[in-house]
Amino acid sequence: MKCRICHTEIQSFMSFGKMPIANGFLNEDEYENEYFFELKPAFCKECFTFQIEEQPDPEQMFHENYAFFSRTSRFMQQHFKAYADWVRKHHLQGDDLFVVEIGSNDGIMLEHFANHGIRHLGVEPSANVAKEARKHGVNTMVRFFGSETADEIVAEYGQANALLAANVMCHIPDLNGIAKGAEHLLKKDGVLIFEDPYLGSMIEKVSYDQIYDEHVFIFSALSVANIFAPYGFELIDLLPQKTHGGSMRYVLSRRGERSISSAVLKIVAAEKKAGLELPKTYERFRENCAASKERLVRLLTKEKEAGRRVVGYGATSKSTTILNYCDIGPELIEFISDTTPIKQGKYSPGMHIPVKSYAAFMEDYPDTALLFAWNHQKEIMEKEDAFGAQGGQWMMHLSKKL
Ligand code: SAH
Ligand code: TMP
Ligand code: ZN
Repeated sequence: MKCRICHTEIQSFMSFGKMPIANGFLNEDEYENEYFFELKPAFCKECFTFQIEEQPDPEQMFHENYAFFSRTSRFMQQHFKAYADWVRKHHLQGDDLFVVEIGSNDGIMLEHFANHGIRHLGVEPSANVAKEARKHGVNTMVRFFGSETADEIVAEYGQANALLAANVMCHIPDLNGIAKGAEHLLKKDGVLIFEDPYLGSMIEKVSYDQIYDEHVFIFSALSVANIFAPYGFELIDLLPQKTHGGSMRYVLSRRGERSISSAVLKIVAAEKKAGLELPKTYERFRENCAASKERLVRLLTKEKEAGRRVVGYGATSKSTTILNYCDIGPELIEFISDTTPIKQGKYSPGMHIPVKSYAAFMEDYPDTALLFAWNHQKEIMEKEDAFGAQGGQWMMHLSKKL
């Protein structure tokens, strides 16, 4: 395959096998037409971008029934308020400000610009979540962002002071189109700020469940610098985040427009030390994934043999990679409990484990809960004292303690 960024010929270094759409929770009568593709990650030695070889059509994933509502997590609500406050404090000065967000979902972040009377626009292709955003006073356009959308926005609203995003850049296969869009959309001194799951954290924790259809890229500072350089942007700041199991906030401006924070040099040096630009790092990652799979299946089999009930906690998109790669179905996990109404009553993609309400977990505690929403561990542990107190055990697919 060709690298999606620099078009160098690259080879995948492993396969997670046949995968369904990660957020494709379905009903029994839909099993027959379930869509599968092969999930194969690859690494480009030229631009250092970690990516997946094949990605289903974006229309298969982002539509009027998109299952992920950002507001589900209280912790993420706080995070996005803090993100918005930080942007306003450090990167938005002057009058007549205009802020655009890509993948604004239910308005979880833009709401905090709307509240301050700042002109804003969310660009969000999933109509159901966009509708929710409008309910919160967030101006939203139901569209995929790209260079043409950027031109339309400029024509209608003028150029923007800031182009923001979270957990969406890594979803967009045509990142060159996004970079071009940013080049057109931003004012001369405008900033591009986004955060996404961080490659450094994924390699360190062997959190291979970050890899699924929607995550076509997992970024590092090294790759982000290379991706945006041809469009005249440079990295001016980097801020590690705890969200989604370890993320990075990237801040870019047009070259020479802003001073560069010392964090940039420091984090780039740490990435080189961790070998993020070396193919051998990914060979080791493959071996670590195989060991992780072997361990999880062994633990679950032991629970079953001991006659203990195991329930999954959080029907996350990430869990689709774990369950399908490890070939774990309802014989090992009784059901998955999730607070999102549109997932409840359906079955997990590929392995068809029933998804039930949170009440189903609360009202009949299992012996063991497999924490799929491990990235929300803090928030979950705070409210699940009672489960532990009556003898409930927690299990995770990660062998490293968080
Ligand atoms: N920013 C939110 C939502 C992340 S989920 C958060 O961090 O919680 C990713 C969102 O991006 C989804 O709502 C999806 O519909 C949207 N999306 C996917 N491709 C997009 C594109 N090309 N342009 C704009 N939004 C996109
Ligand atoms: P995410 O990892 O992609 O953010 O998805 C988290 C999923 O976990 C989402 O479907 C909601 C679910 N969830 C719960 O069921 N209970 C919780 O306490 C939390 C925080 C999430
Ligand atoms: Zn490349």
